Amino acid sequence: MTMKPWIGKEGIYMSDLLLQIEDLSVGLKDNKDSNPLVNKLSFKVKRNQILGLVGESGAGKTLTMMAIANLLSQDLFWTSGTVDYIGTNNERLHLSELRMKKRRRETCRIMGIVLQDAMGSFNPYRKIGSQFVSTLRFRRKLTKQDAISETLEWIKRVGIHDAKSIMNTYPQQLSGGMRQRLAIALVMSYKPELILVDEPTTALDTINQMNVIHLMKDLATQTGTAMLYITHDLGVVAQLCDEVMVLRHGKKIEIGQVDTVYRKPQHPYTRSLLDQAQQILKPPTIK
Ligand SMILES: Nc1ncnc2c1ncn2[C@@H]1O[C@H](COP(=O)(O)OP(=O)(O)OP(=O)(O)O)[C@@H](O)[C@H]1O
Ligand SMILES: [Mg+2]
Repeated sequence: MTMKPWIGKEGIYMSDLLLQIEDLSVGLKDNKDSNPLVNKLSFKVKRNQILGLVGESGAGKTLTMMAIANLLSQDLFWTSGTVDYIGTNNERLHLSELRMKKRRRETCRIMGIVLQDAMGSFNPYRKIGSQFVSTLRFRRKLTKQDAISETLEWIKRVGIHDAKSIMNTYPQQLSGGMRQRLAIALVMSYKPELILVDEPTTALDTINQMNVIHLMKDLATQTGTAMLYITHDLGVVAQLCDEVMVLRHGKKIEIGQVDTVYRKPQHPYTRSLLDQAQQILKPPTIK
């Protein structure tokens, strides 16, 4: 029997590790003297894991995600630190050291993104079907016919039954909830190893929010995709995530299994976030 190699002291098998981020910092180019907006952040994303990233507004959640995805505008921000991808064969690819064009290509191969506003995932001038088909043909090299059948399948998989007519629709003709489901389907359909998700449910009503969250959890489990899920909602983290990382002023406050962190937060800031979340959930006292 061959043993899987261990990584570090944390008891992670090397083959379970997908992304390793070390000392990631992000700052504004014209404000070099101020504190970085993301400050020496180190963490790991494991395969088949949903890692929640929480923290109050301005904590640096989106910037962290954009830095990992190599989507920060270079004229505005500086970044330092390393982002490594670890392949299933344990080969390490230093994404942050690649030249821009190759880094974009590799990042695009490994990761997909779902943004808060699903409209950002679609081109308003092209019908939904054609956007799915061209993505599947480009990303997975499918034939046109196979891409059409997979598109129909994925649209149904996210709970939209009239898939054929949806293919013929422009994104802006759909409801926000439907668009968000389709944005998730589009990313899942090309099977990235990691999906970065930034507050995808804040524009949705509560029922749609819960549906979308359950849908993502189901799809991630079925496809084995790892997820980095940004939210400020600790209830969502409890429903969806395996691990949670708490950010404040761009710094990591703590990271751990959701159960452990929620039951025994190590840091007063995490405790105060959990207390606030509980206050919101408490029913108002009737006078
Ligand atoms: N383009 C920009 N120019 C100047 N400052 C920026 C820019 N983008 C982000 N920042 C600043 O960086 C910090 C972190 O921003 P970021 O968007 O990552 O926060 P966040 O945790 O995602 O917050 P939210 O929950 O409100 O989305 C904030 O102080 C923000 O004002
Ligand atoms: Mg944000």
